[in-house]
Amino acid sequence: MKNLFIILSILFLASCQKEEKKESLYPETTLSAEEKQLQLGQEIFDGKGMCYSCHKPDQKVIGPSIIQIAKIYKEKNGDIKLFLKEKSKPIVDPSQYSVMKTNFAITKTFSEEELKALEAYFYSHLKDK
Ligand code: HEC
Repeated sequence: MKNLFIILSILFLASCQKEEKKESLYPETTLSAEEKQLQLGQEIFDGKGMCYSCHKPDQKVIGPSIIQIAKIYKEKNGDIKLFLKEKSKPIVDPSQYSVMKTNFAITKTFSEEELKALEAYFYSHLKDK
């Protein structure tokens, strides 16, 4: 009986620990849908999209800044998702289009959800300006 009690308490403690670990591993469960989308957008931008190598938030490097792109797309009612699928023409800096074009091989593999997340990430830079 005593042994059973010890085994049960160990199991109980072990399950508590597991629970705690799970919480610290997945803090995003407390994020709103919008925050999760932005997080995904940033992950792609900084990760597999490698967009960061040519686009910075507020200054032009190889490509126009995120803010400039977001501003122009908002003003002209453009669609970043369509552009990244190579279904619409460049409206920010057409003279440099050939440089951006090389990325369509990657962006065309993105799901609709990923493209939406990228678009939301671009527009999120306008909010605090
Ligand atoms: C090799 C450098 C490079 C990389 C990497 C790159 N871009 Fe670009 N991007 C450019 C340049 C240069 C322009 C300006 C030409 C243009 O406007 O099409 C541009 C323009 C754009 C535009 C504006 C297009 C328009 O209408 O004119 C968007 C949106 C964009 N990039 C998104 C992205 C995203 C998202 C990624 C990552 C998946 C990315 N870029 C990666 C160089 C790059």
